Amino acid sequence: LLRSDPKRREKLYKVLVIGDIGVGKTSCVKRYVHRFFSQQYRATIGVDFALKIINWDQNTVIRLQLWDIAGQERFGHMTRVYYKDAIGALIVFDINRMATFEAVTKWKKDLDQKVELPDGKPVPCVLLGNKCDQTRDEQVPEGPRMDQFLRENGFCGYFETSAKDNIGIDESARYLLSKIIENE
Ligand code: GTP
Ligand code: MG
Repeated sequence: LLRSDPKRREKLYKVLVIGDIGVGKTSCVKRYVHRFFSQQYRATIGVDFALKIINWDQNTVIRLQLWDIAGQERFGHMTRVYYKDAIGALIVFDINRMATFEAVTKWKKDLDQKVELPDGKPVPCVLLGNKCDQTRDEQVPEGPRMDQFLRENGFCGYFETSAKDNIGIDESARYLLSKIIENE
């Protein structure tokens, strides 16, 4: 496409990736943006950034800015600063560790208290149950119980993902982007 093409649109979207320590937020971002996975764990300090450029359709290019926030920030005071101007979020938990699912509601509350869309609506938020390549914790809800949890807590969707085996990552990102675009 030529830059002068009047139909051409370029969008810049800031999207947050949040959730407890070690659930695989950085791994999901690396898989999505750099097509890469590492077993090694290096905790994020503060926030990491990644940019993915997506040819959404013939006329639309999306510059997706991912703010990958350290799990340890749930106990800090910086999230307000990091969340500013975000227009979507992915909340990640580890499907093998129920405690990280229990923390999901805390992350969602923190998000909704600190950021909203310009029209006052909550930002679209998709839940990821990551590490689905491993044995799931049976306490994590499935089926109708999970659907009810999503409704009650204002999530617009849920995906089981594996950054390791590349399951559900592209699909969840594309789904969130479609929700963001719907809001425009
Ligand atoms: P913080 O930055 O501390 O908040 O952690 P994080 O959520 O960014 O977790 P990170 O991506 O660093 O991953 C933590 C560990 O889990 C690493 O050892 C990863 O290799 C591993 N991991 C991440 N995703 C997956 C997955 O889908 N499957 C498996 N088996 N391991 C994963
Ligand atoms: Mg990280």
